[in-house]
Amino acid sequence: MPLVPPYIESLRPYEAGRNAEEIQREYGLARVSKLASNENPLGPSPLALQAMARTVESLHLYPNGGLDLRRVLAEKFDLKTENVIAGSGSEGIMSNIIRTFLGDEDEVLTTEAAFIGFQVLAKSRGVKYRTVPYRDWHYDLAALAREINDRTKIIYLANPNNPTGTIFTKHEFDDFYRHVPERVLIILDEAYFEYAKDNPRYPDSMHYRYDNVITLRTFSKIYGLAGVRIGYGFAHEDLIANCLKVKLPFEPSTVAQAAGIGALADKEFLHRSLELNARGLKFLTNALREMGLTVVPSEANFVMIVLPAAEQAALLNGELLQQGIIVRPLTAFGLPKCIRISTGTDEDHQRCVEAMQKSEVVAVCKS
Ligand SMILES: Cc1ncc(COP(=O)(O)O)c(C=O)c1O
Repeated sequence: MPLVPPYIESLRPYEAGRNAEEIQREYGLARVSKLASNENPLGPSPLALQAMARTVESLHLYPNGGLDLRRVLAEKFDLKTENVIAGSGSEGIMSNIIRTFLGDEDEVLTTEAAFIGFQVLAKSRGVKYRTVPYRDWHYDLAALAREINDRTKIIYLANPNNPTGTIFTKHEFDDFYRHVPERVLIILDEAYFEYAKDNPRYPDSMHYRYDNVITLRTFSKIYGLAGVRIGYGFAHEDLIANCLKVKLPFEPSTVAQAAGIGALADKEFLHRSLELNARGLKFLTNALREMGLTVVPSEANFVMIVLPAAEQAALLNGELLQQGIIVRPLTAFGLPKCIRISTGTDEDHQRCVEAMQKSEVVAVCKS
């Protein structure tokens, strides 16, 4: 038996989006726009910042496992505290779910090129990881339903999906759910929930409080708290009780929990972030389409473009970097022809479009 199991040996460590200072130095640029990691360009929620500052006097004390935030969330969403979990980002909770529910013989089922954080977590558990292809860049829920077998334990669905930005609808989810046995756990990852919630076709999973569905949400995106690591989940109390047995007892940190509570009260910031994002999505989608690029319609805070070949995607990424625009090439997700561009400030969008207009790769796609 080797020291490192083969399923760990074959993983590649997560590569974070390139950082702005590094690119600025490398290419000698005056200004860089980082549109690579679906972060909030407005910075952190001001009320979250105030709440975090108030915790400094008590940082010598251990945190209470997210209990304060769980209570606030339970009240806000009309649930019991027992139905709520808080953790170090939604990925922290995903990691708990995988440790709690997966046995060696179990299988995980999801779409091809799913959110990379989930891919890494599931594969590092060493269980069989099965996927079905996208249909027109959407989850193919009918195909997923057909793939469920006796060993399927977890089905992972991100809605809106990262990296495509697409959603599945209420109607599609209802149809799908009828085919899922009760012994199968569905993870509904709603990291981008706030961006999609006003779309009447979007199935807010609060209406799906079934016994085998766990919803995950985060403060990393719309509330601008990616660096703080705070996320939450809703599920049947038995599911939560078992996750709590596995969770690190002092996760989330005192600072992270306070940030979450502060952010939930920050309606003004939420609205400002939504407005900026809607403007950015529209501007980027229209401008890039006018250049002849294929842009997948998005319900999140990023757009995915599809180039004719992997080589063109790599070249375009290089051209954009040279002009100070950091985007996300999607080879590591499993989509080498695709690039994901997060929304930013109005100025970032303008700079991104100008850089694209100067691109030789884009000029070739247009002709
Ligand atoms: C679909 C999806 N789920 C989860 C996460 C991770 O969020 P968190 O920062 O809460 O761990 C991301 C972040 O990019 C994401 O895109």
